[in-house]
Amino acid sequence: MSNQAAWLSSEHGQLEVKEAAYSKPGPGEVLIKNHVVAINPIDAKIQEHGVLVKTYPFILGFEVAGEIEEVGEGVTRFEKGERVCGLAIALRTQNLAHAGFQLHTCAIQFAVARIPTSVSYAQAAVLPIGLATAASGLFEPQYLGLPPPGPTPSANAEKRAILIWGGSSVVGSCAIQMAAATGLIVFTTASAKNHEYVRGLGAAYVFDYSNPNIVKEILAAVVGAGVELVGAYDVISEDDTTEKCAEVVHHFGGGVLLATRLGNRPEGVMLGDVRRSVVRPPSPTATEMPVWIAIWADFLEQGLEDGRLKAKPDPIVIKGGLDMCQEGLDLYRKGVSAAKIVVEIEE
Ligand SMILES: NC(=O)c1ccc[n+]([C@@H]2O[C@H](COP(=O)([O-])OP(=O)(O)OC[C@H]3O[C@@H](n4cnc5c(N)ncnc54)[C@H](OP(=O)(O)O)[C@@H]3O)[C@@H](O)[C@H]2O)c1
Repeated sequence: MSNQAAWLSSEHGQLEVKEAAYSKPGPGEVLIKNHVVAINPIDAKIQEHGVLVKTYPFILGFEVAGEIEEVGEGVTRFEKGERVCGLAIALRTQNLAHAGFQLHTCAIQFAVARIPTSVSYAQAAVLPIGLATAASGLFEPQYLGLPPPGPTPSANAEKRAILIWGGSSVVGSCAIQMAAATGLIVFTTASAKNHEYVRGLGAAYVFDYSNPNIVKEILAAVVGAGVELVGAYDVISEDDTTEKCAEVVHHFGGGVLLATRLGNRPEGVMLGDVRRSVVRPPSPTATEMPVWIAIWADFLEQGLEDGRLKAKPDPIVIKGGLDMCQEGLDLYRKGVSAAKIVVEIEE
């Protein structure tokens, strides 16, 4: 069998499509024949700043959707031919077989989920990183440690609330849906044009982040709703978003502020007793495994089927195969709003 990849041959280089090794899936892995690969902020940052990659040439791409081509030893969850989406973890393993921007990707079975026929590959490819990052922050014990969503909302959660700053982003869209599915009341921020969008995902209160009085308004709404704020998830993690989230959390007597990235703020205590933790790139280790099984085998797979999870935001599809990955990155750099760019490799 042959394989091709969009290679990043050096720091700051342009992607170039060339032959790549065809790797068999290892134990506990599946080999996915990719139909669609998605473009993420991290791909753009690595190409621009030369960060995180230890050796070149490297292959970017951290989420894919396609069909199972082969299953490795010990895999019982999947069979050849099934339609799936999955996380490509080459950054964690530095093993190019695990990279996304290629025709075939090896993925660990617990970071792969079947997709129903009602969901296209392009729609499914928007989910893996957003869902995994949101789930880590909300449910893993080292972060908020909330109970993962079950088939019905948790009975105790109805007076508990969370602030998700950046609800129309990909990670924010997933965080809203998962938090709402656990019964939490979701307060979020988005630009005005995306308020209906985030409400449709389950947010109860939405604030325009360009409003200079936004912190006051969020505080008043939390008090008015008579809810307990369990924490804030700062998906955007710019200096000002972090400060505003910290102010809200601090007002209620300290608590937890999660961020998707470090930015200029160190982790640790800030503003009184508000503790800021940065959610690490998701990868299923032993302690994280219970959350991963709940999310990938239950929430993603069954949630798409029974409507608890929507494949959102919508994809912007670029057709034309691996050659278009560079165009996808260039387009991402121009900015996206409640959308994810995906590249179609095969219909
Ligand atoms: N820790 C990890 O493992 C991990 C994993 C994935 C992503 N990340 C990081 O998390 C961040 C988000 O990633 P993503 O893929 O979800 O981003 P994205 O979808 O590309 O972000 C675009 C969205 O951000 C919103 N936005 C921009 N500035 C905002 C602000 N000041 N306040 C509120 N919303 C704002 C925009 O909202 P409007 O269109 O409504 O204006 C837009 O919809 C990135 O920095 C990424 O690198 C980290």
